Amino acid sequence: MQFGLFKSIFNPSHDAAKPVNGFATEENPLLNVLAQLNVGSILATVRPFLAQLPDSFWMPSQASSKAAEVDTVFYVIYWISVFFFAIIVGLMALFIVRYRSRRQGERAPDSPNHSLALEITWTAIPVIISIAIFVLGFQSFMNIATPPRNSYEILVTGQKWQWFFEYPNGFVTSELHVPEDQPVKLTMTSEDVIHSLWIPAFRVKKDVVPGRYTRTWFEAQEPGTYPLLCTEYCGTGHSDMLSVVTVHKSGTFEQWLEESANIYDTIPPAEAGELLVQRSGCVQCHSLDGSPNIGPTFVDLYGYEQQLTDGRVVIADENYIRTSILEPMTDLVAGYEPVMPTYAGKLKDKEITYIISYLKSASDRGPSEEESAEAETEDPAAQDPDAASATEEE
Ligand code: CUA
Repeated sequence: MQFGLFKSIFNPSHDAAKPVNGFATEENPLLNVLAQLNVGSILATVRPFLAQLPDSFWMPSQASSKAAEVDTVFYVIYWISVFFFAIIVGLMALFIVRYRSRRQGERAPDSPNHSLALEITWTAIPVIISIAIFVLGFQSFMNIATPPRNSYEILVTGQKWQWFFEYPNGFVTSELHVPEDQPVKLTMTSEDVIHSLWIPAFRVKKDVVPGRYTRTWFEAQEPGTYPLLCTEYCGTGHSDMLSVVTVHKSGTFEQWLEESANIYDTIPPAEAGELLVQRSGCVQCHSLDGSPNIGPTFVDLYGYEQQLTDGRVVIADENYIRTSILEPMTDLVAGYEPVMPTYAGKLKDKEITYIISYLKSASDRGPSEEESAEAETEDPAAQDPDAASATEEE
């Protein structure tokens, strides 16, 4: 393949061409040739013009290291399209007016119906432009697909209809938290259907597929909070699959993680439980004010009789709540869809105990103050899940 023409167009100074990180390899000569095109100098030429554009018209703020690169590809394609649209539609309008028939019954004069030179030109120019767009896009795509080795890894699970983010210390959140100025790699999978994680400000979008792992990465550059959403139509709750990314200032992320992971041990169990139901996303389906939602409200749930879909009536005690969190399909309450995801592996035993404490505090059938003080000293291991499901099944 001959790319010399490209070089003279896009790289007039003939800088030493450097392979772009993450995709040129000794083994693949084609990739090497593409890498030689030196996308850096193309971008350096184009960027000053782009910087003058209002970056809020087409795109949100550029909050990650990849944003400028992605936007450049977008704007290159955009301005090429604007240019050709203006030329084609402009000339067409001009010709319609200039050469329109002025007399009744006038016949069009004979005109040349073939010009080899013209046809070669209007084929070659679009081919060159298409290849240039491909090279720009491909280099950017390969960079996005190749996380740096020193990336901070966060495990992502998509689930109808919520995101879970697990940090290296085992702490799980429903909102993403990341450090500033550090590459972050997301290793993602789904519990059910295909979701797609999208962080517009970072220009990150990647499908999250059941039964396999997909990955993406970014380096956040501006502390702040940005929207995070699902872009794959994954069911009726698709539009609710919203979350946010919080970018922590350099050096403060580790402290946040440490404190967040340990906060539940330092406050009363019922308060820890309330924090947990908010942070784990329970409140998206279960209200804390008594109003009905996708699932039963958490107010006056504990201690009350629950009518189940299979006809059984059970009292919502500690074991009922624990089973409902870990095996949501076991004791379905009548009148609600079987849509709750399992929290097995996402909430620790201790955290489930805190949530139970919170539900007790939110119910008028919960224990009095003194009783709850006693309950705190109870051994959580006494709540054996096997024993729980055994009694319920018999
Ligand atoms: Cu998940 Cu849409």
